[in-house]
Amino acid sequence: MEENPTEHRPLDVLILAAGLGTRMRSNLAKVLHKADGRPLINHVCRTAAALSPEKIYVVIGHQAGDVQKAVLAQQAENDVVFVEQRKQLGTGDAVNSAREFLQDRDSTILILSGDVPLIRPETLTGLIHQHHTHRSTACTILTVNRTDPTGYGRVVRGPGGAFERIVEQKDASDNEREIREVNAGIYCFSTRRLFETLRSVKNENAQGEYYLTDVPALLNAAGDEVAIFLHNDPREIEGVNDRRQLADIERLIRQRTISRLMLSEGVTFIDPETTYVGEFVSIGRDTVIYPNVSIEGATAIGEGCTIRAGTRITNSSLGSGVEVLDNCVIANAAIEDKCTVGPFAHLRGNAKMHEGSKVGNFVELKKTRLGKNSKASHLTYLGDATIGENTNIGAGTITCNYDGKKKHETHIGSDVKIGSDTMLVAPVSVGDGASTGAGSVVTKDIEPGELVVGVPARPKTKKDTQSA
Ligand code: UD1
Ligand code: MG
Repeated sequence: MEENPTEHRPLDVLILAAGLGTRMRSNLAKVLHKADGRPLINHVCRTAAALSPEKIYVVIGHQAGDVQKAVLAQQAENDVVFVEQRKQLGTGDAVNSAREFLQDRDSTILILSGDVPLIRPETLTGLIHQHHTHRSTACTILTVNRTDPTGYGRVVRGPGGAFERIVEQKDASDNEREIREVNAGIYCFSTRRLFETLRSVKNENAQGEYYLTDVPALLNAAGDEVAIFLHNDPREIEGVNDRRQLADIERLIRQRTISRLMLSEGVTFIDPETTYVGEFVSIGRDTVIYPNVSIEGATAIGEGCTIRAGTRITNSSLGSGVEVLDNCVIANAAIEDKCTVGPFAHLRGNAKMHEGSKVGNFVELKKTRLGKNSKASHLTYLGDATIGENTNIGAGTITCNYDGKKKHETHIGSDVKIGSDTMLVAPVSVGDGASTGAGSVVTKDIEPGELVVGVPARPKTKKDTQSA
């Protein structure tokens, strides 16, 4: 194939994100609303970054500082240029506000909308590739056919199917509203021709705005070539203008993630419709997820696990063969292979369960390590504690870790038996092989092998045992 000189044109990306999003009826700028736990703008920036452009320009306006912060939480400062649009006079004006940065560049500019978060990098690569096929193409518009085109700009084609113009919903005639082919709000332009042509855009339309969508027709009239890239998956260009559409996006992302986990990773979902799994979660083969489970953030789950109904897992790691029973909350925790958790257990604050350990019903672990094969089966609070191997924590045990001013630590050794309803008043440590009697209040360290009982707990001698 002949080498195409335009393929080597630098790529710039411009993301429109200055609008308030009136139809959201929110105090929060639209692009800060979250889907899959992340602001919409972050979805778009991430996709843009996957194309390795020279720079990503983000047009900000409403809640500019917050949008900037959200973007920089994810993107390196050097990769992004923020451009302020003072008044939101329309998408054409939004692009125009980046004029000083871009008008002299001999590049291709890809324009994305901050409120169209599902577009995939592969699709954009296809668009850019087509745009570069003919050197004379000044603009390529990404379009899709929708069964319900309401709200979108319609693509009017002339006889023979050539591009004629884009007409916005509010400006369209009844006949034009019948058109199913819509503008995705995603385009490639020759940067130079875009900024030259923007000067001629007027705001004489139903919304009194400067429409970016007028540029292609103006280019056409000036003799430039305008091409269409008709994409076959309308779901990818779904825009968020109101809360219903936000819920649609949430559902689409979830379906995409769960399908991938089922088809590529071999995970069973009993009821995918009621299961929420974040895009960055990994789950191993033959793990079974029951209904009404939420798995969020940077969570990694191993193979052959069972996650029962009503459980939420956030930013945690689970090894293989882990069984999580119903209604647990697991946040920032690490659980090794073959552990059992729940029902109704709460793990948080870097809780760690070593291999084969067990946390049962109504047990909370905070910043606590539970050693290999150790068990806390019922009604227990373990906070700021380390527990050795093969230790049993009896029902109703509490580490009293807070004295009203400071948190203190509890250390429990291996092969320990903590009797039911023991209070461990921290700081305190329990030696290997020691035990406590039911209802003891432990205020002093316990020696290895020692048995303590009572309130406050005292060592129980052989004599005590004989007289008992
Ligand atoms: C726009 C397109 C429409 C297309 C649809 C696809 C125009 C005029 N219309 O309509 O043809 O089908 O997207 O989703 O472009 N923005 C600014 N500054 C402004 C106005 C908007 O930055 O002054 C930003 C918004 O924050 C948003 C994006 O541009 O991220 C699109 O604006 P929006 O008002 O949602 O346009 P639509 O009505 O969806
Ligand atoms: Mg929109």
